Amino acid sequence: MNKFFKYFIYFFISIMVIAAAGYFYIKTQYPKVSAAPDMKIVPTAEMVNRGKYLAYGFASCMDCHSERDYSKLNGPLVEGTEGKGGQDFGEGAGFIPARNITPDMETGIGGWTDGEIFRAITMGVDKDGEPLGPMMPYTFFANMDEDDIKSIIAYIRTLPPVKNKIPKHEFNFPVNLIFRTIPSDPHFKELPDSADILARGDYYSVGCKACHSPMEKGEFIKEKLFSGGVEYPAPKGGIVRAANLTPDLETGIGKWTKEQFIQKFRSSASPEVTSIVVKDGEFNTVMPWTFYGEVCTDEDLGAVYEFLMSQKPINNHVEKYSPPDKYSAK
Ligand code: HEC
Ligand code: HEC
Repeated sequence: MNKFFKYFIYFFISIMVIAAAGYFYIKTQYPKVSAAPDMKIVPTAEMVNRGKYLAYGFASCMDCHSERDYSKLNGPLVEGTEGKGGQDFGEGAGFIPARNITPDMETGIGGWTDGEIFRAITMGVDKDGEPLGPMMPYTFFANMDEDDIKSIIAYIRTLPPVKNKIPKHEFNFPVNLIFRTIPSDPHFKELPDSADILARGDYYSVGCKACHSPMEKGEFIKEKLFSGGVEYPAPKGGIVRAANLTPDLETGIGKWTKEQFIQKFRSSASPEVTSIVVKDGEFNTVMPWTFYGEVCTDEDLGAVYEFLMSQKPINNHVEKYSPPDKYSAK
């Protein structure tokens, strides 16, 4: 045999062995998270209310884990689907439907302990310790106040159980390996005092940041936080882009008053707006207007406004909607 060819074979075999070892290592050593904590949440009415406020509002659990009626403007929640799951969040990463988080014993999380639910929300692994995709934003929830997470659990335990079997996610390779390495132990942060308006606004705007900030390789681009332009498939076709939320006067929301900002949420959730019928090829949005607009208080939306206004203005013009080709005037 040709000497060169022999070396090539050895080389090739070594690469295969290293790759197999790496694959085996990641498969068996990750995800690296602690055992589910041994906790028993004793719900109070106050906790359930707080949990509901967050689940519908700033934590967006109910947005992702329920059905939205996109035949109506702003896609209000379909009643009776609270927590039943099903929306696909995988896009390029595979098929990753939001799961059933109602207390149904067979198809939901009725059989999970409080600690297992707590671990799923804040560390990103399911009951069996298998990783969840980060489109379930556990890396954000890992920075919330621990008591807020407990309140959310107290609330989702009160959802009416819905029987809805969700097929298990199918991550593509190599995403399946990468996703195994992301779960980690949480770094909780206390809910800032209500007097510290900017810190409160920062705490509550984490979800806004996630949708409104451009990313590169899974990380926010520091100089572009809240500057918008992030593209989403529009619910009725075309592309919808997150708005520029920085205080830039021309391209951001620098000219908006706090009252206008709060009013935009209220009017966007009003029956006059959400009864407007949207047809295929027309604008509709993934922005959870109806959820925030129905539950978030003036005080907390005001804090988010103040926090956004404290950010650096970024000039970035965003075309909010492009209709699908066959509907656009050419
Ligand atoms: C941006 C959308 C999104 C938001 C917001 C979101 N989730 Fe999820 N969640 C998902 C997706 C998608 C999955 C499935 C991930 C997978 O299968 O890998 C999931 C999985 C879960 C699971 C695991 C269930 C199981 O059977 O394995 C729990 C529990 C859960 N979410 C609870 C919550 C709670 C509570 C909140 C709010 C604090 C929340 N989620 C917010 C999208 C979301
Ligand atoms: C699921 C992704 C998503 C989340 C979460 C989200 N947004 Fe949006 N937002 C969008 C998209 C897409 C648009 C553009 C389409 C529209 O106006 O609805 C938008 C538009 C807006 C606008 C309109 C700006 C204008 O110029 O008309 C404001 C204000 C806004 N978002 C504020 C917020 C705030 C504050 C939060 C958090 C409390 C938030 N958004 C969370 C996706 C999101």
